[in-house]
Order: sequence, then C-alpha cells, then structure tokens
Amino acid sequence: MHIYEAEKFTIPSLECISEKQIAVHVGLYEGYIKHVNLLRGQIADLSQQDAEKYAFAIESVRRRMGFEFNGMRMHEFYFPQWEGGATPEPRGSELDRALSEKYGSWDEFVAHFKKVGMSRGSGWCTLAWDKVGKTPHIWWTVDHELGMLADVEVLVAMDMWEHAYMVDYVPAEKSKHIDAFLKNLNWSVVEQRFVATQ
Ligand SMILES: [Fe+2]
Repeated sequence: MHIYEAEKFTIPSLECISEKQIAVHVGLYEGYIKHVNLLRGQIADLSQQDAEKYAFAIESVRRRMGFEFNGMRMHEFYFPQWEGGATPEPRGSELDRALSEKYGSWDEFVAHFKKVGMSRGSGWCTLAWDKVGKTPHIWWTVDHELGMLADVEVLVAMDMWEHAYMVDYVPAEKSKHIDAFLKNLNWSVVEQRFVATQ
C-alpha cells in the first residue's frame, strides 16, 4: 500500500501572519496525511479480517476519504503559494488576460475572489482553470470536499477554515486573513500553475 508522507514547506517570514500560526497550521496538515494512511490501513485490515462482516464499517471509513485526502492535497496547494516570498500581482500577463476576460479586470477578479472567500462556514475559496471550458472558476468548497469541481486545475487555494487564522485573528476579522493571504502570495507560483495548464 502506498504510504503518503507530509511535504516540507519553506515559508519565509510573512507580513500579518505569525510563525506560530503557520506552525500550528502545518501541524494540522500533517494530521491529514496521518489520517489518509490510517483510513486506507483500516479498510485493508477490515477487508482482510472479514470483508462481509465489516462491509458497513468499510463503507463508512471509505466515505471519509474525500475529506482526509482533499484536506491533505488542498494544503499542498496552500502552503507553497507563500514559498519564495511575495511577488507583485501579474498584471499584463496571460493569466491577467484570462481572468480579466471573465471578471472584467484584475481588480474585479480580486474583489470577486475576496467576496467568495467571505462565504459563511469553514472551507476553501479556490481559483481554478477549466481546461475543457478554457475558462477560470472561483468557487467555495465546504470543508475540503463538498462542492469540489472535478477535473479543474487549482491555481489559487485559500484556506478559510478558522484554524487557518485563529492564532492571529478572530472570526470577525477573517477579511484581514484574506488580505494577509493575498499580500504574501508568490504570484509566480500561481502563474506557473496557469502556464502548466495551457
Ligand atoms: Fe487548513
């Protein structure tokens, strides 16, 4: 069985996001790796013991896969976006042209992204590129998996779970978390993801 291992992230000092916040958050990410492996191990164990007897338990564990797996993978989109440090917004780039075509302008794209990020509840605000439709989408995922779009390429993943900012901000200040997230973004990582989809 494949065993997943936690990625290591080299995150520089960030503005308005503390080292403690990052450390706590990376620790939570590592918990998802542990649980993906645990979940798969339990399915294997129960299947080996008595697949018929434990059919309901196996099915129940399997239903958790989307939560744990996406919890792992979404954070692997999240933390690298800060690696290398902040870079200027890629105004004038192909990415800008694609986003402006849909949202009107770069500023309107950012405003829309922030608005979706302010959705109620815990989840993710994600910008992705749909290769089939050749168009970007910004949407909200409840938890890590409910509302996820299939077969799109993630360009920006913004964690809007309270655990992503509660060391530094209270829930009523989540717009500050969004501003801090964007302020520290290495847009070249985002551009590279976009270029890879073309
Ligand atoms: Fe998170």
